[in-house]
Amino acid sequence: MRLTFLKNRERRPDKIAITPLRVDVHSHLLPALDEGAKSLEESVALILELKQLGFHKLILTPHIMAGFYPNSPHKIQKHLLSLREHLAEKQIEVEIEVAAEYYLDAFFMKELLSANELLTFDSEEGAKYLLFETQHLHEPKQLFEAIKRISRKGYTPVLAHPERYNYLQRNRLLVHQLYETGLLFQVNINSFSGYYGSRSRELAEYLSVAQMISFLGTDCHKQEHIEMLQKTMVSPMYQTVLRAGEILNNRV
Ligand SMILES: [Fe+2]
Repeated sequence: MRLTFLKNRERRPDKIAITPLRVDVHSHLLPALDEGAKSLEESVALILELKQLGFHKLILTPHIMAGFYPNSPHKIQKHLLSLREHLAEKQIEVEIEVAAEYYLDAFFMKELLSANELLTFDSEEGAKYLLFETQHLHEPKQLFEAIKRISRKGYTPVLAHPERYNYLQRNRLLVHQLYETGLLFQVNINSFSGYYGSRSRELAEYLSVAQMISFLGTDCHKQEHIEMLQKTMVSPMYQTVLRAGEILNNRV
């Protein structure tokens, strides 16, 4: 996986045509599982909006966080089935799958990483991408260990919205050290319009220019995010981002 990735990174951006994103890999649209969509109606309304933005496939990624969002794969799969049924009844054609956004903490390290059932989204080539997030302020002391253990289990670790973490905004060297481990970065689309602040925007742009972005995500929780996506996705900056490096969204 790592070797393929290094090869991908050598591609020149000017040879790559702009391809609109057909797949979103990060959102909170399964009703009432986290702080995202609160009802089935809200979920359907947001899914329709994402469809309008050109997405054909949505990978829904509820939080899994001990003490806050104790979601299990079984519970998430159950909610997926009822959402799919509801969409079919309404004749809304969109492909819906699930993974999760795992929070890196002691529970993740001790319990979840020891279990065999982890939710991932998968590539056509068979890679299993495990999306995880961390605390925002300080570098978690288990960060490198977590990457190593995720990789050893046969998954490809994907860090959700690295541009939003204070400890990465102020430490470019750490960004590069993480990248060199084989960790992939998933950047939020709305970061490019400054929705999460100027420091997030700066790091998102830095990652794009350095061709270090593997996935883009909406991280959509609510209507406000859709309105920002509508603006961001027609911006010249976003078109530049799609041209830079190898965005893997459409291959999962
Ligand atoms: Fe998220």
